[in-house]
Amino acid sequence: MPDGLTVNYDGLIPNNVDLNADARVRKALETWHPGYIDWWKDMGPEGFQEALVYLRTAVSVDPKGWAKFDYVRMPEYKWGILLAPKVEGRLIGFGQHKGEPAWQEVPGEYRGMLRRLITIQGDTEPASVEQQRHLGKTAPSLYDMRNLFQVNVEEGRHLWAMVYLLQKYFGRDGREEAEELLRRRSGSQDSPRMLGAFNEATPDWVSFFMFTFFTDRDGKMQLEALAQSGFDPLSRTCRFMLTEEAHHMFVGETGVQRIIERTCAAMREAGIEDPADTERVRALGVIDLPTLQKKMNLHFSLTLDLFGSEVSTNAANAYNAGLKGRYREDRLEDDHRLLDATYPVLRCRDGAIVREEVPALSSLNMRLRDDFVQDCQGGVNRWNKVIEKAGIPFRLSLPHVAFNRKIGEFAAIEADPEGRVLTAAEWAAGRDRWLPSTDDNLFIESLMRPVSRPGEFASWIAPPKVGIDNKPGDFEYVKLWG
Ligand SMILES: [Fe+2]
Ligand SMILES: [Fe+2]
Repeated sequence: MPDGLTVNYDGLIPNNVDLNADARVRKALETWHPGYIDWWKDMGPEGFQEALVYLRTAVSVDPKGWAKFDYVRMPEYKWGILLAPKVEGRLIGFGQHKGEPAWQEVPGEYRGMLRRLITIQGDTEPASVEQQRHLGKTAPSLYDMRNLFQVNVEEGRHLWAMVYLLQKYFGRDGREEAEELLRRRSGSQDSPRMLGAFNEATPDWVSFFMFTFFTDRDGKMQLEALAQSGFDPLSRTCRFMLTEEAHHMFVGETGVQRIIERTCAAMREAGIEDPADTERVRALGVIDLPTLQKKMNLHFSLTLDLFGSEVSTNAANAYNAGLKGRYREDRLEDDHRLLDATYPVLRCRDGAIVREEVPALSSLNMRLRDDFVQDCQGGVNRWNKVIEKAGIPFRLSLPHVAFNRKIGEFAAIEADPEGRVLTAAEWAAGRDRWLPSTDDNLFIESLMRPVSRPGEFASWIAPPKVGIDNKPGDFEYVKLWG
C-alpha cells in the first residue's frame, strides 16, 4: 500500500497517487508523455540536453527529506506527480462553503472556473522554461548553470502537476487543455502563452535573477492562494510545489545579492565612492547599481500585471466558491467569508491616484498583490544591507505600483517610480532613467560571456557562500560533455 509519502519510481511516471491502480489516467499521461519530451527537447535548455547536471529529484513528499541529488541528463529527469499527504477530515476554509468537507471530486457547478484556474497556472510553468532556454550558453559559472537547469526541470514538473489534475478530473476537456499547454509558445504571435509577463524575453542573467525573484514569487503567491483551495487535490498539489518554489526564490534573491556584492567590492577596491559614476563602475566589469535598479523596476512592474485587475469579479467568484483563497488564509483571523468587509485599494480617479475602500471580495487581487509587495520588500532590505555594509551611499527600492503598468487601474496613466502622475512627454523624457535603456542592455549583454571552468565565476558576480548540497567551491555541477 502506498503510504502517501514515498514515491513509486517503478513506472514511466514516478508518483505518489497510486497511478498503477488508475489505468485511465495512467494511459492519458503516458499518451501525453512523448509530446512533453518533444516539447522539452525543442523548447528546453538549448545546447545542453546531453550534459550531465547535478540535479535534485523529489523522491518523497516528507518535508524532512524529500530530495536526492545526482548527475542526470535533463531529458531523462524523473518528472513525477507528487501531492502533499492528505489531511484527514480537511474542511473548506473560506467562502460560501466554509466548514463543509473539502471536495475530493470537482464540484459540478464550479467545473469551468476550476479548469481555468488550473490551466492558467499550468501555462506559466512551461512558459518560463521557454523564456530561459538560451541562458545556459552565457552562464556566469557552472554553479549558476546548474541552478538555472534545476529551476527549469522543476517548472517542467509543475506542468506535469497541473496536467495530472486536468487529465484526472476533467476528462476530455482536460486532455484537450493538456495538449494546448504543449502547443502555446512564449512570445509567439499566433499562440502566445496566456499571461503577458510570460511572453517577455529573458535576455540575460540579470533578467533571469530578477525574474526568479519577482515573477517566480508571483508564482509562489498564486500557489499559496491555490493551496488553500477547497478542491483538495489542487490544494495538495500546490502545497508540494511550494517546497520546490522556495529554491527558485533562493536563486533569484542570492543571484542579485551576489551581483551587488561583486559591484560593491569592485567599487571599494577602485576607490569609487559615487554609485552614479556608471562609466567608471562599468569599466571594472561589474554592473552599476543604478542599472540594477532599472532592471528591478522593469521586472517588478511586469510582475505586478500578473495579479490582474485590482477590482475583479472573477477573484470574488473564485473566493466565494471556495476555490482560491487569500495568502495564508488559514492563519488569518476573520470570518473567511468577507461579505461585509472592505479593503483599501489604490485607484485612478480623474488622472490622480487615490485610496478607496472597496468590498473585500472584489479586491482580492489587490490584497494578494499587497502581500506580494511586502514579501519582495524583505528581499530588497537584505540587498540594501549589503550595500550599506560596503559604505556605499545608494539604496535599492521597489517602484510605486502605478509605475509602468499595462493592466488594471494604472494602465491608462503614466507614473514615475515615486508614483507621480506624468504627462506623455514627461514619461518619454524620463523613461531611460527608470527602465533599462538600449545602452544599458548592450552593456549587460557585453558581460554575458560563459564561464565554464569549475569554481570560476564571471567578473560581475561573486561566488556563493555555500555550494548546492554542501559541495565544495570547485565542484563540477555540470559535466558539459556528458
Ligand atoms: Fe512553477
Ligand atoms: Fe518557479
